[in-house]
Amino acid sequence: MSNYKILFKISGSIAAYKSAYLISKLVQNGCEVQTVATESALEFIGKATLEGLTGKQVITDTFVSGGMMSHINLVKWADLTILAPATANTINKLAAGIGDNILTSLFLAHTWEKPYLIAPAMNMWMFDHPATKSSLEKLKSWGVEILPTGEGYLACGDMGKGKLLEPDLIFNRIEELLENKKKPKNKLSILITAGGTREDIDGVRFLTNLSTGKTAAAIADHFISAGYNVTYLHAPDIILPKGNCEKIIFTSYKSLDEAVKKELSSKKYNAVIHNAAVSDYSVESVVVADKIYNVPFSEKLPSSEENISLNLKRNEKIVNKIKSYSKDILLTAFKLTANQNEERKLEQVNKLFHDSSADFVVQNDISNRMGGNVQQMFSVYGKEKLTEVKNVGELAVELEKLFLSKK
Ligand SMILES: Cc1cc2nc3c(=O)[nH]c(=O)nc-3n(C[C@H](O)[C@H](O)[C@H](O)COP(=O)(O)O)c2cc1C
Repeated sequence: MSNYKILFKISGSIAAYKSAYLISKLVQNGCEVQTVATESALEFIGKATLEGLTGKQVITDTFVSGGMMSHINLVKWADLTILAPATANTINKLAAGIGDNILTSLFLAHTWEKPYLIAPAMNMWMFDHPATKSSLEKLKSWGVEILPTGEGYLACGDMGKGKLLEPDLIFNRIEELLENKKKPKNKLSILITAGGTREDIDGVRFLTNLSTGKTAAAIADHFISAGYNVTYLHAPDIILPKGNCEKIIFTSYKSLDEAVKKELSSKKYNAVIHNAAVSDYSVESVVVADKIYNVPFSEKLPSSEENISLNLKRNEKIVNKIKSYSKDILLTAFKLTANQNEERKLEQVNKLFHDSSADFVVQNDISNRMGGNVQQMFSVYGKEKLTEVKNVGELAVELEKLFLSKK
C-alpha cells in the first residue's frame, strides 16, 4: 500500500470519530492521506486529531489564498477518494450535482478512472428515505462504489440499517482496489450493452422486455477483475457490475443506438459484447377513439376507451450497424431462440452472422430461463459451433479466450 495517495472526505455524522482509526491504519500502511471535512464534520472530530494523524492540514474551505485550485488539484493528486462517514445530506447533494463546499466541489471534478468510495452512516429512517435511496442508486450508476452499511444499534438508540461499515472492512476494500492497480493492466477496452430498451407510448408509459442485465453484469465483472477497461452501457434499474467501470445509461432504442455510435466513434474499443435486449419496434403513434397521437407525446393518454391501437415501426437492428460504427472491433452478438430445434437454431445463428458480420454469436434458448433456472446453457459460435458452456461465468472465460486468440 506504500505511497498511495488517499483523499479522505468526512461529513457530519456521529460516526466521524471512527474515521480517525481508519486514517491511522492507512497512514501506518504507508499511504499519504489528505483529509477534507465539511463544517458539520468538524463538530464531531477535531482538526487537531486529523492533522496529527496525517501530518497535513485539514481542508475545509474552497476559498483559501494559495489553495484556490484545490477543488481540482486534489482530484488529480489522489489515487482514490473515500467519503467516510457519508451523511444523508452530503450523499443527496452529490447526487444532485451540488458543489457548495470543497467536499462536494471536488466530487464534481472527479475523474472516473479513479475509484470513489462512499461509506454511508446514518439513522435507518434517513437511510430508507426515498431521496437517499435514489441518490445512492444514481451515484452507483455513475461509477461510485457504495459500501454496504452494517446493521445494529445506532447512536440515536434505534436498531436498524445505516451503521458505518466497520473501518477494518473499509480498509480491506481500499487495499484491494489499490493492490488491483498494481496488477498489469490489460489494455483491451470492451463495450458491453445491457438490459432492455424502453419504447415510449406517452409521457408515463412504455413498452419494454424482461431483460435484467444479469448475464451482462456477470460478464462485465469477469473482464473488470481481469484488468480490462470496461464500459457498461445499460438500461435504468437493471443489475450493475460490482466492479469499477464506466457506466452510461440508455433508455430507448434511439438512445442506445446513439450511445453505441458515439462511444465507438469517439473512443478506441477492441470489442463490443452486445447483450442488450433491443426492441424490434418503436411506437410511432397511438390511436385513441379515432384520434391519432404521435409519439413522442409527453402527456398522459386518455385511458377510458375499451380498445386503443399502437402503431409500431420497425427498428433497424443495432447489431447490424455496429461494424459500420467501428470496423476494427470484435463483435459478440447474442441470439435468444425460442424452443426451436437444432436446425432452426443454427439457421438463426447463421443469419445473425450474415447480417451483422459478428465475430462470435452466443446462442441460448428461452426454455433455459423458465422457472428460475439458474443453469443457463450458452452455445458459442465463431462461424461454426465452438463450444457449449453451462453458466455465465464459463461464458465470460470463453469469450476472453476468443478475444485473446484474435488479438
Ligand atoms: C448528534 C448528531 C448526529 C448526527 N449524525 C448523523 C449521521 O450519522 N448521519 C447523517 O446523515 N446525519 C447526521 N446528523 C445530521 C447532520 O450532521 C446534518 O444533516 C448536517 O447538515 C450534515 O452536514 P454535512 O453533510 O455537510 O456534513 C447528525 C446530527 C447530530 C446533531
